[in-house]
Amino acid sequence: MVSPRYPVVLRERRELAPNTLELTYVREDEAPIAYVPGQFFSVDFRHQGEEKSRSYSAAGRVTDLKQNREFRFAITAVPNGAASGYFFNAEPGDRAKISGPFGALVLPRVDPRRYLLVGTGTGVAPYRTMLPELEQRMQANPQLKVDLVMGVRTPAELIYGGEFEAMARRYPGFRFHACYSREMPVAPAEHEHAGRVQVVYENLEPDPERDMVYLCGNPQMVDESSEWFSERAFSAKNLKRERYKFSTF
Ligand SMILES: Cc1cc2nc3c(=O)[nH]c(=O)nc-3n(C[C@H](O)[C@H](O)[C@H](O)COP(=O)(O)OP(=O)(O)OC[C@H]3O[C@@H](n4cnc5c(N)ncnc54)[C@H](O)[C@@H]3O)c2cc1C
Ligand SMILES: NC(=O)c1ccc[n+]([C@@H]2O[C@H](COP(=O)([O-])OP(=O)(O)OC[C@H]3O[C@@H](n4cnc5c(N)ncnc54)[C@H](OP(=O)(O)O)[C@@H]3O)[C@@H](O)[C@H]2O)c1
Repeated sequence: MVSPRYPVVLRERRELAPNTLELTYVREDEAPIAYVPGQFFSVDFRHQGEEKSRSYSAAGRVTDLKQNREFRFAITAVPNGAASGYFFNAEPGDRAKISGPFGALVLPRVDPRRYLLVGTGTGVAPYRTMLPELEQRMQANPQLKVDLVMGVRTPAELIYGGEFEAMARRYPGFRFHACYSREMPVAPAEHEHAGRVQVVYENLEPDPERDMVYLCGNPQMVDESSEWFSERAFSAKNLKRERYKFSTF
């Protein structure tokens, strides 16, 4: 089934990190934009006279999704990328089209005992959208645990890190692990690690009887991590994945 496309207008842009922007679009007719935390939209734009389309995870931290009227996403600049060129030059008032929502990287109705949420770069956007829902679920069930693992090159590239740290301060069951593959802070905190996301997996003691694993972002990270968890008896029912695969058109 072809998904309808809605004209949208850019309302706001802000820099999240030196290489990453957060863009907020609203529908031209101001109608609500519904989605479930973890889903993504397809955005159409014009590049060198051609219509192009790229996918972006919703990144907005929205409490009342029924009343939501914006599509917010985080985009990292890819050198010579068509969408990167378009979005990094976009100004408030610019028009585009979106369709969606798509995807199944969403929270189940019934919680496992622990969520293990892994993302590289903008691959943490889905987890940011889940924060209000996770907060409600953790309040209702103080036994619920969440380990959020984020992988970036350098501390400067961390996005939404302050929000994840604040969540960890409010809820002892929520832990945030930041992994830096190329540069460590001068004085690393306890939750900061040198290396790719995989460096923390063993210490988290994953257990397929108890945990549900989410993987999002760099396609190689998703593939390698899937293999790692599959070797430890995780399967489709407790291993969800969203690969930010590159477009070929
Ligand atoms: C379901 C889904 C959700 C996504 N969500 C997000 C999101 O929330 N935020 C976000 O920033 N991106 C996201 N992406 C990726 C996004 O759709 C684009 O692929 C990305 O923005 C690059 O597009 P581009 O047009 O700038 O580059 P392109 O013109 O498509 O690519 C330019 C060149 O760079 C290479 N390339 C593309 N991406 C990368 C990369 N990451 N690393 C190394 N080389 C690369 C390509 O192979 C090509 O050679 C998502 C992808 C999918 C499938
Ligand atoms: N020139 C720059 O300074 C610069 C800065 C940012 C982004 N970029 C470019 O922008 C594009 C997208 O950036 P991005 O941040 O989304 O890139 P990305 O390639 O997804 O990298 C984000 C993080 O994922 C890690 N990673 C890569 N492969 C992995 C794997 N198999 N398993 C686990 N972790 C893995 C990276 O580690 P590694 O560091 O080990 O690869 C990095 O820590 C890329 O083209 C990138 O080259 C360039």
